[in-house]
Amino acid sequence: MPLLNLKNQALALISQTVSGQELAQLRIAFLGRKGQLNQVFKKLDKVNYGRQFNETKQAIESALTERQTQLTGTTAEWFDLTAPGQLPPLGHLHPISQAIAEIQRIFEHLGFTRVRYPEVDWDHYVFEALNMPADHPARDEWETIFIDAPAHPKLGQMVLTTHTSNGQVREMERVKKPPIRMLNLGKCYRRQQDPTHTIMFHQFEGLVVDKGISIPHLKGTLDYFGRQWFGPKIKSRIRPFHFQFTEPSFEVDFTCTACNGRGCRFCKSGWVEVGGAGMVHPKVLSAGGIDPKKYSGFAFGWGVERVLRLKPGLNIDDIRLLYSTNQEFLNQF
Ligand code: DAH
Repeated sequence: MPLLNLKNQALALISQTVSGQELAQLRIAFLGRKGQLNQVFKKLDKVNYGRQFNETKQAIESALTERQTQLTGTTAEWFDLTAPGQLPPLGHLHPISQAIAEIQRIFEHLGFTRVRYPEVDWDHYVFEALNMPADHPARDEWETIFIDAPAHPKLGQMVLTTHTSNGQVREMERVKKPPIRMLNLGKCYRRQQDPTHTIMFHQFEGLVVDKGISIPHLKGTLDYFGRQWFGPKIKSRIRPFHFQFTEPSFEVDFTCTACNGRGCRFCKSGWVEVGGAGMVHPKVLSAGGIDPKKYSGFAFGWGVERVLRLKPGLNIDDIRLLYSTNQEFLNQF
């Protein structure tokens, strides 16, 4: 079959070409006025082979065009080395993951070790061992989410951790003998949702226990964190407060970064509160098997979202944005 042979021959040659110039030559050789296709056609019976002639011609033509695009797409004759490349879209760590890594780095410089304890934990570690027995009104401050599971005979009900303070007694039990310098950083959950609260959020909990630990150690640690996180000009202050698991207890404020502590619309007083702290209550040390007559300690527990929100230049007024899929917001980080 002369037409079929011709087609196969043409397609084979086309597939081997490496340049547009070769393709142009083949086009003339096969489809040109005096080309091979016309030569063969002259000798054929026009009535019976008309359709097959057209099909062969079309097949060769489309093979030529297809090869042409292949060649220009790969070993293009025209190749502009200076044209900017197309960057593949690159993701990045979520702002909260970035904040967590930075917080961990700051405390590691002070010799703290990051640990992780369960996010679903027993009442004992979340409340009871922290000097909040069942029915104590202080528990009401934590909008607790309970797990519908049978209670443990000694450790009580299972809850979603409302704070990272559950790591305190767990760490004392793990280490057994001070010194302890723990950073427990993880997820917490409370039944609360508004511009400054999300049901799931993160806290970081510091715990230092050793001989002779006192309030200046706490204050020095807070100041160090403040300078690293907010900037060198930041000042901190501690205000008396009440927590069941610390005595004395404090709330910690930093100077507002929006007005450098002068007082503005955002902070009113020049100070912004970042979280709680205090000297570990003797009952908590005892619950962790540590003798409060020999050892003392300090602790603090703050929200990651909260300190991120207050970072200079950020002033995120609705932290729920952090957990949305709003790419315009997230891509800024
Ligand atoms: N757990 C407290 C909360 O979630 C914060 C806190 C206050 C942690 C004082 C501490 C502390 O370790 O000493 O509100």
